[in-house]
Amino acid sequence: MEDQGQAKKQKLSDESQVKISTLYDTILILDFGSQYSHLITRRIREVGVYCELLPCTQKIKDLDFKPKGVILSGSPYSITDADAPHVDPEVFNLGVPVLGICYGLQEISRVKGCGVTGLSRKSEYGFAQLKVVQSNFPHANELFAGIQDLTQVWMSHGDHIDNLPKDFEIIGSTETSGFAAIAHCTDPVYGIQFHPEVTHSVEGKTILQNFVKLICHCDSNWTMDSFVDKEIERIRKVVGENGSVVGAVSGGVDSTVAAVLMKRAIGDRFHAVLVDNGVMRMNECEQVKESLGSQLGINLRVVDAADLFLDKLANVKDPETKRKIIGNTFIEVFEKEAHIIDEECQNSGTGKINFLLQGTLYPDVIESISFKGPSATIKSHHNVGGLLADMRLELIEPLRELFKDEVRALGSILGVPDDLVWRHPFPGPGIAIRVLGEVTREQVKIARHADYIYIEEIKKANLYRSISQAYAALLPVRSVGVMGDCRTYEQVIALRAVETTDFMTADWFDIPVPVLKRISNRILNEVDGVNRVVYDISSKPPATIEWE
Ligand code: XMP
Repeated sequence: MEDQGQAKKQKLSDESQVKISTLYDTILILDFGSQYSHLITRRIREVGVYCELLPCTQKIKDLDFKPKGVILSGSPYSITDADAPHVDPEVFNLGVPVLGICYGLQEISRVKGCGVTGLSRKSEYGFAQLKVVQSNFPHANELFAGIQDLTQVWMSHGDHIDNLPKDFEIIGSTETSGFAAIAHCTDPVYGIQFHPEVTHSVEGKTILQNFVKLICHCDSNWTMDSFVDKEIERIRKVVGENGSVVGAVSGGVDSTVAAVLMKRAIGDRFHAVLVDNGVMRMNECEQVKESLGSQLGINLRVVDAADLFLDKLANVKDPETKRKIIGNTFIEVFEKEAHIIDEECQNSGTGKINFLLQGTLYPDVIESISFKGPSATIKSHHNVGGLLADMRLELIEPLRELFKDEVRALGSILGVPDDLVWRHPFPGPGIAIRVLGEVTREQVKIARHADYIYIEEIKKANLYRSISQAYAALLPVRSVGVMGDCRTYEQVIALRAVETTDFMTADWFDIPVPVLKRISNRILNEVDGVNRVVYDISSKPPATIEWE
């Protein structure tokens, strides 16, 4: 049943989208499963060209846009594996340039007649010097235009070709790889054995830029400035003149930016709901009300459900049970409010709610369309299951083509205040998973207060933007201390601060000792019930960012 619900939701979601790829020059990246595939997407967008990553199993006849060029990614497979994924050969009949990276080069070689015997298994991992070889065919030289004859590249491959496919020539070699870069003599088809998308390849970004701009002739018009107008127009078209939208906001950057876009597009026909679950940060509810409601003018209502959440959390210690309770209670409260809004809209003759806003980002989309199958790691918080199923709402996801840094840039353009744009991520279950063990009102108060001081001091020390995420956790232990002439037996605060780009791996952040001293002093002096502060120096893995 749940699968059917998901499939239906996905379908509704697809139907409600007018594709961005039909509005911009678009490069199609076919993903063969390399850990670097999403980086190709990042690099190309960084040079202002829109691109989309689709699974390598994509049939060209089913594409709903015409790409200006195609890139075949790397892969963890060996091309000689029986179950190795293969490209639809129609890619080469599209009449647009093709670039194969690593496994992609081998796929080109395979399709172009350098059979499997032309590949040999010899792994190579690490830096190499690429020697650029000039060609007599001008188009073949365009890939490395403006690049020094000798440049550092990053290799990471098991197979390599040891025969040139018919009508191809060498345009680059390394000491160990005679065919490190090849190009077709007449057609704009290129293959490179190294990875231009990783920053270790010094000229990697230039190579990708040459491909998309010089070779594919893409306009570099993918900017958040241009996105704003197109997206607002798209939302208006999708929602229609009388449609209304409901969406939850949390004060985080994604839901805030999505809400501001909706406000710009359809004004007060967008109804934002903030559910106060009693485990948000200190003063956060008031701040969100002030910034989203008063400053940004969003039609916002706040539902005070703190007691409901905290009562349900009583006596619960298990982290996953806490998550489930919070997730389910959120759905219950939000659904009730959405029905009230719907009724109000109908009574006042302003139409009916027919869309649900979600702040889905591109990494979630990439993860869910991976040809290796949807990942099981999507957090239950994001997976809102049967939310509002009985209202038959369609999903509207204005950020589904964007990476986090693009969302931030968009937020700034839309006038979202800096402190919201750069806010550290905050988990859906909030402070409930930062109060280890049982979540009581008193424990939440202690954790909140310590967290507030910690963040305030990090901001004062100008470290907030360098740290990816920081928070204070309240540990479920007591330790002995001394205050004045008296023995104390009180609780412990653990400070966590990490640096990360993807939140999948993370390093602990090196906060200068004088700053740590100030934080610890203030917490010990100002927060009742705490007599010890510790600093968490664990990286992820093996630890996770949250303690629960
Ligand atoms: P971990 O603890 O898995 O956290 O290293 C990685 C990132 O995910 C956030 N996180 C959550 N976000 N619901 C959320 O919305 C959750 O249940 C949840 N658990 C962890 C965490 O804050 C970090 O940014």
